[in-house]
Amino acid sequence: MASKSVLIVGGNRGIGLNLLKAFVAESWNVTGTVRPQTRRDDDPSIADLEKTGARILEIDYLDESTIEKAAIAYGNKPLDLLINTNDMLVEKYRVMAVGPLLTIKHFLPKLEQAPGAKIVNISSAFGSISTNSFGTFMAYRIAKAALNQGAVTMGREWDKEGRKVTMICVEPGFLSTRLTGWDGVDNMDKGMNSRSSRLERGSRLVSISVSAPWLDG
Ligand SMILES: NC(=O)c1ccc[n+]([C@@H]2O[C@H](COP(=O)([O-])OP(=O)(O)OC[C@H]3O[C@@H](n4cnc5c(N)ncnc54)[C@H](OP(=O)(O)O)[C@@H]3O)[C@@H](O)[C@H]2O)c1
Repeated sequence: MASKSVLIVGGNRGIGLNLLKAFVAESWNVTGTVRPQTRRDDDPSIADLEKTGARILEIDYLDESTIEKAAIAYGNKPLDLLINTNDMLVEKYRVMAVGPLLTIKHFLPKLEQAPGAKIVNISSAFGSISTNSFGTFMAYRIAKAALNQGAVTMGREWDKEGRKVTMICVEPGFLSTRLTGWDGVDNMDKGMNSRSSRLERGSRLVSISVSAPWLDG
């Protein structure tokens, strides 16, 4: 049987790189994306990605033409799983909400070619309005809430249109990455061991999870 394919945006470091390694280890057909400027700067994270043997494409969420080019370069073939991850440093709303939704738009034709295809948006419990009991991180919360609302809206529309692509938004846990200033309480390696297969099993049309489902147990 042909191996399944996954595309991970932001595959050169942090959660994206660790997810990517887990899928490579499970013999998926793996593509990771990097920002063109990070590659141009020869950032050490690029070598980390190259070592995995994954195919590399370039996407900057702030520039839709890069998303369009990456979708063309990917080719007219099925994509089983699209994982949107990103950074919180600048232009939070555009990077964290608009960019992932544009990526979904450009890769949807490939996802629809794969039976049971899924999209996993690496979101955050900070995007949840109902669990916001103590404020803080306003821009980050607004951006993640927008991502969640956009994902739910797309998912509901697809449901009406009879499209068979599953949309999931997940909270990954508190993990030590550049984004958290290398702070974190959850164990990346423990989470990643079971992460890719659990993402694969997820089957609800739209699920906004506010816990880290793969980290417990
Ligand atoms: N770590 C946690 O505890 C935690 C908790 C909750 C949610 N999250 C979410 O998990 C996701 C990944 O975070 P992380 O902790 O793995 O952070 P990270 O190590 O800083 O990685 C962020 C990734 O996003 C890429 N990126 C940044 N700006 C981008 C853009 N404009 N276009 C495309 N890619 C871009 C980065 O590329 P460059 O290397 O080129 O900058 C990098 O590959 C984020 O959405 C974050 O909000 C993380």
